[in-house]
Amino acid sequence: MAKVRFEMDGIEYDAADGAKLVDVCRDAGSSIPFGCTNGICGTCIVSVKNGSENLSPKDAEEGHTLEMFGAEEPEHRLACQCVVHGDVDLDNP
Ligand code: FES
Repeated sequence: MAKVRFEMDGIEYDAADGAKLVDVCRDAGSSIPFGCTNGICGTCIVSVKNGSENLSPKDAEEGHTLEMFGAEEPEHRLACQCVVHGDVDLDNP
């Protein structure tokens, strides 16, 4: 189990190891918005405040989309492209 904390919503949710973050966000009732869910539209940009090492690594395509939307800090991720492998804290970008 992994604890996913949504700081913007005051929600803490137990996620299964290997769960897609998009599913966790929806199941937890978080306010993180989603559009394409394919890593293209940039709607789901989040800041990972703690536990970035517990998410699947950022690939080149995700990095390219984040760059296009000016979210170039290491803490920025596309929630639709992450898989959860441990505790993580998320907030608005
Ligand atoms: S929902 Fe479109 S990039 Fe994540």
